[in-house]
Amino acid sequence: MSGHTHGLLVQASSAAARFDALMLTLTLITGAMALVLAALIFFFSIRYRKGSKADRSNPPSGAKGLEAAWTLAPLVIFIAIFAWAAVDYMRLYDPPAGAMPVFVVAKQWMWKVEYPNGRREIDELHVPLGKPVKLVMTSQDVIHSFFVPAFRVKQDVVPGRYTSLWFKATRAGTYHLFCAEYCGTGHSAMRGRVIVMPADAFAHWLQQGNTGSGIAAQGFALFRKYGCSGCHSAGSTVHAPDLTGLLGRTVHLQDGRTLVADEGYIRDSIMLPRKDVVAGYAPIMPSYQGQISEEDVLALIEYIRQTGADHDDRQPR
Ligand code: CUA
Repeated sequence: MSGHTHGLLVQASSAAARFDALMLTLTLITGAMALVLAALIFFFSIRYRKGSKADRSNPPSGAKGLEAAWTLAPLVIFIAIFAWAAVDYMRLYDPPAGAMPVFVVAKQWMWKVEYPNGRREIDELHVPLGKPVKLVMTSQDVIHSFFVPAFRVKQDVVPGRYTSLWFKATRAGTYHLFCAEYCGTGHSAMRGRVIVMPADAFAHWLQQGNTGSGIAAQGFALFRKYGCSGCHSAGSTVHAPDLTGLLGRTVHLQDGRTLVADEGYIRDSIMLPRKDVVAGYAPIMPSYQGQISEEDVLALIEYIRQTGADHDDRQPR
């Protein structure tokens, strides 16, 4: 594979052709409408110019049918385009069940990428061809935006919460990665590359330079280092919720709300433990805000995800 980076117009993901078709349709409709209006302005301004011999008798005083038509026709067109765009947009937030998770932490001014097996890279994202990939992203400082023009995907990366993005690369090669949200003086330099490799080459790449322990194993070490295991383990004397298989589980809270535990909920529980207190437990957990890095939080989440996979293979992801 050469070092050549493809141009921005290349279609390299399963979403690209759909968004291009929508964009082209919008451009054609608005362009055709603009042309018609410009031509009519031109024609009328010549035909009815001052001193012309055009017939000005009997001006029209009402045309309800015409008015209804030019009101309803655009309405129908706009609603159809809205529905089309909404369906595509919702697909963007509905990753297929088997999508490979990859973690992205943005900071001024770089992209830190980490794979479940522990392999890390900076400003580069390697992905397999033809396999769905789900990015789980957060920022450790300000708002950034993950943008791969050739994939036609863009998603804000926000401090304090997780956003996600999925895609399926359809064309091997190297593509631009940009930050698309002004994030300080180094914003324009916050660029990277997305490298799409055939699936077997990717599998080989993923094993190289591996640090040895996967993210979940690192998470288990952190679970002990930060003292989580002191309260959240079976033999503990402190009364704390059992975290085994927590991801995807329905949680009942003290104030009567229920929610389904996702990555954001676990992150909030570590950083803002008083926000969503589990029913039947005292709010005694200390906050780890400012004491734990975003990478460590992701590792803890992966450890908790792993306990679910070990515990129950039917656990929804
Ligand atoms: Cu990060 Cu702009």
